Amino acid sequence: MNGKLIVFEGVEGCGKTSQMQLCSEWLESLGVSVVVTREPGGTELGLHLRRLLLEKPKDKLFGTAQGEPVAQVTELLLYAADRSQHVEQELKPNLAAGKYILCDRYTDSTIAYQGYGRGLNMSLINQLNHIATAGLESDLTIWLDVDVEVGLARKRKDGIGLDRIEQETIAFHRRVQQGYAELAASYPSRIVRVDGSLSKEAVQQVIQGILRVHLKELP
Ligand code: TMP
Repeated sequence: MNGKLIVFEGVEGCGKTSQMQLCSEWLESLGVSVVVTREPGGTELGLHLRRLLLEKPKDKLFGTAQGEPVAQVTELLLYAADRSQHVEQELKPNLAAGKYILCDRYTDSTIAYQGYGRGLNMSLINQLNHIATAGLESDLTIWLDVDVEVGLARKRKDGIGLDRIEQETIAFHRRVQQGYAELAASYPSRIVRVDGSLSKEAVQQVIQGILRVHLKELP
């Protein structure tokens, strides 16, 4: 069986983590060999980058008392660096070994967050995505679509506190959401929208149906 790259995308609190977990259990029950990974942070180097990227300003990781702001292009380059390492160390070898990879975020996150959210130049983002992935695209991307406020409320409820990007303005998160909507409209055969406001079980049923349709070789 050929390996497959299946990506889960969406705004904060869209439910990716629990859906990926359920999906992984279902695929394993079918005898499929599954790897679950994420960006940023799917490698050892990536875990350091994840901490640098997401730590809350008040955690004072940076030199100044207020926490040095992360410049927008710096942020973009750090996500690209994380992706490049992830593609080389994790994605390519596992695909070559015939694994089904469930990946929490990939190139569309950079387009949605740094492109639509921050307003950075799309052609620069596309170039960096291309360099970082060496052209490796997802076989299928599941976009879990939930209302931005609903997602952020879920995040607030989990009690961990919001990270640097979750703390962005509601307008930022709405632009990210708009980005996903436009990406899904532009790439209908690669990106499939799933209504993330349904119950956990109902969302999982929909995802399994989509995987069955798109990945014909599933046992
Ligand atoms: P998550 O893994 O909990 O979803 O958090 C990752 C955060 O990083 C989330 O706020 C989205 C953000 N992000 C970007 O801004 N650009 C990217 O390219 C990626 C992969 C994530």
